[in-house]
Amino acid sequence: MSLSAFPQESGSLVKKHLSREIYKALEHKQTCSGFTLAKAINSGVKNPDSAIGIYAGDAQSYDTFSQLFDPVISEYHGFSKGKKHKSDITKLDLPSLDPEGKFIRSTRIRVARNLNGFCFPCHISLPRRKELENKIITALSFLKKDLKGNYFSFEQMDKKKIQQLEKKNLIFKKGDRFQDAAGINSDFPGCRGVFCSFNKKFMVWVNEEDHLRIISLEKTSDISSVYNRLCRALMSLNRGLEFARDETYGYLTSCPTNIGTSMRAGVHIQLEKLEQEKDLLGNLCLEYNLQIRGTLGEKTKIKNAVFDISNRQRLGVTEHGIISNLYQGLMAIIKAEKNL
Ligand code: ARG
Repeated sequence: MSLSAFPQESGSLVKKHLSREIYKALEHKQTCSGFTLAKAINSGVKNPDSAIGIYAGDAQSYDTFSQLFDPVISEYHGFSKGKKHKSDITKLDLPSLDPEGKFIRSTRIRVARNLNGFCFPCHISLPRRKELENKIITALSFLKKDLKGNYFSFEQMDKKKIQQLEKKNLIFKKGDRFQDAAGINSDFPGCRGVFCSFNKKFMVWVNEEDHLRIISLEKTSDISSVYNRLCRALMSLNRGLEFARDETYGYLTSCPTNIGTSMRAGVHIQLEKLEQEKDLLGNLCLEYNLQIRGTLGEKTKIKNAVFDISNRQRLGVTEHGIISNLYQGLMAIIKAEKNL
């Protein structure tokens, strides 16, 4: 591996910030678990269309390779070291945004968590992944009331069950080429699975891009209800699991885009008029710091004017702040749609 491994056309943040000096300083460094610079940047090297192009193999990666992670994080999040990331998962009580369901099809909030003492998914061995899966299953078994549910292990499911869960969008797939080059797909589907509450409003993905992706969702616009459910689950899981967290960078995740709150809160919203006025929608999203994704998720297209709109900022903002901001932004977007 050398600096020239990056294809000419790649425009990723990792390529931009990996100067010759930084490369020389980090080239032979390793974390205690043996994670190297070459592994961290492999996805960016193999995928010239990466936006970021770097992944952490363990919590220590953020420290060992800080000369590279820090400038990437600072540019992506607009947040530099010296500040502290704060959390706030107190209860919210906001009226429903679109009670008649004219625009908002569904609301979904997820956070990512990784456990202290285990390598992150791109660098973990199969036996450790198994240990981790068992630990998570135990913690999930303590969830109470509406959060109670079943764990579906990918290894133990037959094709029919997989198809059934895929149809309901309850399952995650093997990672894309970005995750693949990072090493996140190793031993797939081994030790992966999804926990799904009986009422289908709460899910946990186990051993996807992060150890846990904790998800609350509903086919309504009731953001408070979705958010409060997620917070209750987090409080319960926090009792049994110790999450990797840093004073400056908040919750530590595989991809540095997700650090901080690690929260993505958003809706599927149908905007037939604004679809014809893309600049107006784009400007509203810019103003409220929101991100538009395709109907079927990251790097997909818009179908039937259904946009996935979510927060852009995750670091240097509280969970509570993300939801309040999303709420204000969606109010403005719905108002604009109605006025057209
Ligand atoms: N590594 C990819 C890139 O740099 C994805 C980044 C964000 N997405 C994610 N699932 N972590 O473009």
